[in-house]
Amino acid sequence: MKISVIGTGYVGLVTGTCFAESGNSVTCVDIDEKKIKKLQSGKVTIYEPGLPKIFIRNQKEGRLQFTTDIKDGFQQAKIIFLALPTPPDEDGSADLKYILGVAKEIGNLLQPGDYKVIVDKSTVPVGTSQKVHGVIMQQLKERKITKGKELFDVVSNPEFLREGAAVEDFMKPNRVIIGTGSEKARKTLSHLYAPFVRQGNPIIYMDERSAELTKYAANSFLATKISFMNEIAQLCERVGANVDLVRKGMGSDERIGKRFLFPGIGYGGSCFPKDVQALWKSGQEVQYDFKIMNAVMDVNKNQKLHLVPKILSYFKNNLKGKKITVWGLAFKPNTDDIREAPALIIISELLKYGAVITAYDPEAMGNAKRVFGARVSFSENQYDALKGADALVVATEWSEFRTPDFCKIKDLMKGHVIFDGRNLFELCQMEEHNFHYESIGRKKLNRKNQPEK
Ligand SMILES: NC(=O)c1ccc[n+]([C@@H]2O[C@H](COP(=O)([O-])OP(=O)(O)OC[C@H]3O[C@@H](n4cnc5c(N)ncnc54)[C@H](O)[C@@H]3O)[C@@H](O)[C@H]2O)c1
Repeated sequence: MKISVIGTGYVGLVTGTCFAESGNSVTCVDIDEKKIKKLQSGKVTIYEPGLPKIFIRNQKEGRLQFTTDIKDGFQQAKIIFLALPTPPDEDGSADLKYILGVAKEIGNLLQPGDYKVIVDKSTVPVGTSQKVHGVIMQQLKERKITKGKELFDVVSNPEFLREGAAVEDFMKPNRVIIGTGSEKARKTLSHLYAPFVRQGNPIIYMDERSAELTKYAANSFLATKISFMNEIAQLCERVGANVDLVRKGMGSDERIGKRFLFPGIGYGGSCFPKDVQALWKSGQEVQYDFKIMNAVMDVNKNQKLHLVPKILSYFKNNLKGKKITVWGLAFKPNTDDIREAPALIIISELLKYGAVITAYDPEAMGNAKRVFGARVSFSENQYDALKGADALVVATEWSEFRTPDFCKIKDLMKGHVIFDGRNLFELCQMEEHNFHYESIGRKKLNRKNQPEK
């Protein structure tokens, strides 16, 4: 099948590449010329495990094209995917300018005799499919094209891939949600998705509005789970309980489940923060006060800063000139995405207090350099970053941080102090190596006897 994907970011590039991998001919469109040039020259623009291999194969075999011109491949395409940004507007609602702008372009390109399925893969509020339909119809009307309704259908097909595991999630999705009232569109998409659900994972068909809401409900529920656990962790610290044990005790109940119960320094990324906010805003718009969402946003905002008072208190409120190393900048491991990453909030706060920051991340340093410039030093290696440091802050749970050489760490650091925002290390290890160690929802370990270097 011939497909166009409009928007070639994290979702669009993975979508386009994975559809090409299943034999379709895909044209990916983006307005970012630099990005498209890079992709055309065979370079993947994001860090995503497993993506380069299938990207190169499909590009070589001519099934994957890149362009800045939406007209390229449009006439031949049977399905047009929208994988465009939906950032928060000033009031927290999703900004639909990218989606509706492209809808207008599509309305100008559709020709009499066409039939195309326009698929919205972006995360959008309830009613967006209808708006996209309306914008396209308006353009067709202005162009005096009759029977415009027969030329297209708009489908809501929200995307559930996780950055860092996006290819796997796309190739073997837990489920595919298809929101449409059109039998023709439904048939086209079930044909397209058939190779991805061969193992029996369901395609769930529903109306457009339910599909749009499903995505927000799923992300907001996961964010709620994280925030709930972060509040339990706060309580643990105050009552002397260990959140790791509470988590295990809770999570082994099948009704609760083990996943998404890890406390930390809050959720970030391009999805959870904006989606929780947009769901809350959707409630407001229909005079419904979505109280849980409000609390989730509040808890997360505070949690991102949870380590800062601990650091301040350790250094007796004087961070001027203190050298603090930060391990991890990405909002989660296996991605270079730093959007809304807790590490950025912590670093900005520590800089305000005069700390000197050296950071290391396996993939996200390029993006972080664009944010901090010369205000932060970046190290090419997790150990080099520790030279002469007064403290280490762990902000992202990359695998390579999990079992470091603690003797080497102690040799390199000036102060033997770790603030662990991801509970990566065992308390007994930290006790054994005699670190001052503060984590999330577990007891604080004070360094014994030895004076700092
Ligand atoms: N990133 C994720 O993990 C994820 C997962 C599921 C759903 N989503 C949703 O998918 C949507 C896209 O997210 P993303 O992370 O891929 O965003 P992104 O910012 O990485 O990519 C969006 C791309 O669209 C391009 N673009 C903007 N206007 C355009 C236009 N007029 N024509 C062509 N291209 C244009 C941008 O240049 C950018 O490359 C959002 O709604 C997001 O909430 C994201």
